[in-house]
Order: sequence, then C-alpha cells, then structure tokens
Amino acid sequence: MYSWIEVLLYLTILELEGSDLDTSYSIRLPALKTLLLDRVGFKQNDGMFKFVLGCPSLEKLMVLNLVHQLRLQSTSLKFIQLGYRANIEPIQIEAINLESLILNGFIFENSNLSACKAIKNLSIVLAEYNFEDPSSLEDLISYFPHLENLTLDCDELTLENIKISNQQLRSLDLENCGYYSETDYRMVNVTVLAPKLTSFCYKGNISLTIVVESSDLLNGELVILDRPKKYDANWFTRMMNFL
Ligand SMILES: *[C@@H]1O[C@H](CO)[C@@H](O)[C@H](O)[C@H]1NC(C)=O
Ligand SMILES: *[C@@H]1O[C@H](CO)[C@@H](O)[C@H](O)[C@H]1NC(C)=O
Ligand SMILES: *[C@@H]1O[C@H](CO)[C@@H](O)[C@H](O)[C@H]1NC(C)=O
Ligand SMILES: *[C@@H]1O[C@H](CO)[C@@H](O)[C@H](O)[C@H]1NC(C)=O
Ligand SMILES: *[C@@H]1O[C@H](CO)[C@@H](O)[C@H](O)[C@H]1NC(C)=O
Repeated sequence: MYSWIEVLLYLTILELEGSDLDTSYSIRLPALKTLLLDRVGFKQNDGMFKFVLGCPSLEKLMVLNLVHQLRLQSTSLKFIQLGYRANIEPIQIEAINLESLILNGFIFENSNLSACKAIKNLSIVLAEYNFEDPSSLEDLISYFPHLENLTLDCDELTLENIKISNQQLRSLDLENCGYYSETDYRMVNVTVLAPKLTSFCYKGNISLTIVVESSDLLNGELVILDRPKKYDANWFTRMMNFL
C-alpha cells in the first residue's frame, strides 16, 4: 500500500498550510525543489527531519509559524527561511550548501549551525524572550567564513552593546536597534569590525552610536532612515553622534 505522498514523484513545488503530517509512512519527493510549510505540525518528533531527508533535490525551504524544535539535514538546500510562532526552540541545521538563512525569532542557546559554513546571506530578527547574552549572537556572526550580507533587525529590543565582527562581510543592514520615544530613549552601541564592509544601511530611529572600525566603508553607501516626531536639539545631537 502506498501513501498519497509516495506517488508525487514529479512534484517540484509544495505548499502546505495548517495541517498535521504523519511521517510514519516513508516520504519520497525526489523532484521537490521548493517547500513551504505554514502552521504545519508533525505527528512524530522527528517528522520534519524525515520529511526533508525524503526530498533529495530540495533547494528552498520556508517554514512559517513553526511550533516544533527543528532539526534538519540536507546537502541540497540553498535557502531556508524560518519563522517561529510562540514557544521558541533551538534549531539544528546541517546543510553544507546553504547560502541564505532567514531567521525570525529564534533561540541561540543549544542551536547548532556549525555545518552551514557556506552561508553568504544571513538575516536575523531578534526576539526579547530568547535573547539574554549578546555574545552568542556575536559568536554566530563571526563564525560564518563566507558571510557577505547580514541583516539584523533588533525589533526594538534594548540591546546595550553589540559587536558585529566578520572578516568577509560586505554589506550590513541594521533595523530597529535601540528605542526612542518622546519621553525616553535608550542608546545602543554597535561596534562593527569588518574590513571588507562596503555598504551599511540603518533603518530606524537614531538611538544608537555606531563605531565602524577598519573598513572600506568610505567607498560605500550609508543610508539612514529616521522618522522622529520632532526634530529637536536632542535629535540633532544624536544625529551628530551617530555620524
Ligand atoms: C553541531 O553539529 C555538528 C554536525 O553538524 C556536530 O559535529 C557537532 O558535534 C555539533 N555540536 C554540538 C555542540 O552539538
Ligand atoms: C548581497 O546583497 C547584494 C545587494 O543586496 C546582492 O547584490 C548580492 O548578490 C548579495 N550577495 C549574495 C551572496 O547573495
Ligand atoms: C541575498 O540577499 C540579497 C538581498 O539582501 C538578494 O538580492 C540575494 O539574491 C540573496 N542571495 C542569495 C544567494 O539568496
Ligand atoms: C554607549 O556609548 C556612550 C558614549 O560613548 C556611553 O555614554 C554609553 O554609556 C554607552 N552605553 C552603554 C549601554 O554602554
Ligand atoms: C521611533 O520613534 C517613534 C516616534 O518617536 C516611535 O513611535 C517608535 O516606536 C520608535 N521606534 C523605535 C525602533 O524606537
């Protein structure tokens, strides 16, 4: 007897929404290249792991509203996007050809991305409840030997000091770091150590100071988007400190 999924030999794109998958059947989707799972649960703990193992051509994986701990092993995956819903869990990804990783709300502790050495694009949205010690984030960023583009969205999380250090990094996008309102603002100090950096972009309020050390940034671009309600003296001072 075959399960419905076993006959889908030629499927290249699969999108599943709001279902519960039973992976006690063997899963074999040899042609699948793109998989999108939104609010999908698995009846078995290792369900996702088995599912991905059964997709040897999979290049692009998007998992939205993930509820499980995620463990993956794949040599074909090039792009992974993960978005967690409520209870954030660590992730273990072993994907040696992965080039782009987008993480939205994710826990660093007990996560293991050490096999993903080929990552060139990394995008992280931080979340308050999973973030205590910035050193785990700093270690992660400095680890990837081929990282070119980094996007870090602090999601208004009040980090105090953060050091972004990577030898290969060319482009850095920071978003929503620091916090600013009419009555209160908290400074964030960002130190960037990236000798090959040529592009830096900041989106958000200017409640941070940035020190960029030893880079080619003078040849690059600097984009600052700031939309304060009032352009007062304080704002101006912060702007000058920022530049
Ligand atoms: C992380 O994963 C790699 C394999 O991808 C493994 O060799 C290593 O032992 C793991 N590290 C930890 C701390 O579990
Ligand atoms: C990094 O970003 C730039 C601009 O967004 C893009 O042109 C370039 O291809 C990216 N690098 C990689 C490895 O994707
Ligand atoms: C990396 O991200 C940039 C935009 O930030 C995009 O243009 C590029 O295609 C991405 N590269 C890969 C390999 O996904
Ligand atoms: C950030 O740097 C400013 C100026 O150098 C300093 O006054 C402030 O205390 C620093 N903030 C933190 C959280 O270390
Ligand atoms: C930026 O400032 C506006 C108004 O002053 C405020 O509503 C918003 O929450 C601030 N954003 C951040 C990231 O601090």
